[in-house]
Amino acid sequence: MNASAAYLSSLFDLSDQQAYLAWRERKLTEAPRRAADLVVEIEDIGRLSEAEHGAILQRVRRCNMAVYQEAPKPGRDDKAAVQAFARAFGLERLDANVLADEDGITPLAVHREGSRARYIPYTERPIAWHTDGYYNTLPERAVRSVLLHCVNPAAAGGANRLMDYEILYIRLRDEDPAHIAALMRPDAMTIPPNAEEGLERQATPGPVFFLDRGGNLCMRYTARARNVVWSDDPAVVAAAAAIRRLLDGPDELILQHRLAAGQGLIGNNVLHTREPFSDDPASPRLLYRARFYDRVAGS
Ligand SMILES: [Fe+2]
Repeated sequence: MNASAAYLSSLFDLSDQQAYLAWRERKLTEAPRRAADLVVEIEDIGRLSEAEHGAILQRVRRCNMAVYQEAPKPGRDDKAAVQAFARAFGLERLDANVLADEDGITPLAVHREGSRARYIPYTERPIAWHTDGYYNTLPERAVRSVLLHCVNPAAAGGANRLMDYEILYIRLRDEDPAHIAALMRPDAMTIPPNAEEGLERQATPGPVFFLDRGGNLCMRYTARARNVVWSDDPAVVAAAAAIRRLLDGPDELILQHRLAAGQGLIGNNVLHTREPFSDDPASPRLLYRARFYDRVAGS
């Protein structure tokens, strides 16, 4: 383990309170209190300037996410621009799924019929708190970052509530360090097997919080009770209940933002919801989503 990984790991070591408290103080001081603080104006996401790159990175360093807002680019290939933007932050290893396009980017739009209509992202229904790809196997397929680009918003609704998972970690550790120990257990949360054609997977047990090889904190979570089997260990049960309560808020560090056309969210797979929306078939909602095994470079 190199020095930076050793330092990062010490922050999340329950026996090293000193390093943690200094980090905690800085995180809470720097955390944005308003969604507007996340937003960076960008001329063209396909061709970032150094200053634009720096402004995005500064926000991701503070709170693991940023929102860009780009001038309208009629006729431009948005997916190619999204890929160029991702590459500028070292995001290259795409977690493609069977519903993604060939380039590994998933168009999210309402499907009223067909195979996608059965999946909640393709409906107008709300999606509860989660991190993306929580069902992936660890560590090789852990989703470390997500990019969401809005081509066209819904007629109404469809905002995201957002929370930096490091803030949730702090809230839990403040309440009871035993929550953290329980959530780092390798059997804390099991994703049941899926037998569906094209989406088959084995039961996937794993921790909620874990450290990657660089010592960075990662989180996998879903609040959808039917998608997950929690350990029946009383400490895990209590920690899972604490997460649900904390995410229900209120918390001044839970932000809400509705992506407008030309806006996008980049982040180290932060906790988020999707609020319900109503779609106008004459001007359908369309978002492009890309998930990566890479963390935002330099964050
Ligand atoms: Fe998501």
